[in-house]
Amino acid sequence: MELLNKLTQTDGVSGAEEDIRALIEAHAAKLGYETRTDALGSLIAHKAGDGARIMVAAHMDEIGIIITYIDEKGFLRFGGVGGLYTQRLAGAKVRFKNGIIGVIGSEEEELKEKVKLDTLYIDIGAKNRAEAEKLVSIGDRAAFVGAMYESQNAVISKALDNRAGCFAALRAMERLSGGKDLYFVFTVQEEVGLRGAKAAAFDIDPQYAIAVDVTDTGDTPKAPVMAVKLGGGAAIKVMDRSVLCDAHIREVMKNTAKKYEIPYQLEIMADGGTDAGAMQLVRAGVKTGGISVPTRYIHSPSELAYKSDIDACAELLYRTIEEL
Ligand code: CO
Ligand code: ZN
Repeated sequence: MELLNKLTQTDGVSGAEEDIRALIEAHAAKLGYETRTDALGSLIAHKAGDGARIMVAAHMDEIGIIITYIDEKGFLRFGGVGGLYTQRLAGAKVRFKNGIIGVIGSEEEELKEKVKLDTLYIDIGAKNRAEAEKLVSIGDRAAFVGAMYESQNAVISKALDNRAGCFAALRAMERLSGGKDLYFVFTVQEEVGLRGAKAAAFDIDPQYAIAVDVTDTGDTPKAPVMAVKLGGGAAIKVMDRSVLCDAHIREVMKNTAKKYEIPYQLEIMADGGTDAGAMQLVRAGVKTGGISVPTRYIHSPSELAYKSDIDACAELLYRTIEEL
């Protein structure tokens, strides 16, 4: 859990992934993988082998904000990077690369109605524009602040989307001994349109691709109907808005889960896409599947997942790669 803590607490908003990349790269190198960074910034960790060429994509970017304007009083106007829930933003804290923390502010009156993004602002406590401009600039990105807490079953943290997936990928990498030609790619810019995975998949030209990410659940008090629940094990992706998964990979995943008694469930996510959708469509098409960590409150500073489900995803990923 110490590694998951480090992964969630190192920031990496889309297009500014350098800190999280450095952390993952150090870890992948320790595990004996050759690493390089491509033009978009995705980290490619490779272990050569004679077997099938397999690409695993876990996006390492996270949602956040980007400064668009600094007003004369020193308040920062901002836009969203990735899908933000505007109604949940007021009161949240954000952190810039230089460590500056700001709170997302709103006039009380605005909160009584449906909040619009352009009525919110970030307050870093600056006295005026000149002071604010010494600390931050237009285009700077900031990530949500949200420490990781652990209970008996769960972890709660910002950026479990998708550091939980990165964690599962690293755990699988640790156990894979070779044979397959393995490419673990920690992709950039997933949250703004699956961009890193697309470029990396074209480069690698894999025979099989697997995306590891989080998925919504249907188990909160008024959740829309969805078969995925916390504690139900690794979610084997059937479909999301970006992809219909390859039937062969899905069957291998199901049979592998049964063979090794790994708890699993089937995922159909109505809203949202994953790197699976991007990888499937490069060149002449790639057989693609997905393994997902069931997670509540995705894209909030307090996402919640079960430790047992994260473990099941790591185990299923490792075993599936061996079986493919
Ligand atoms: Co996301
Ligand atoms: Zn994600």
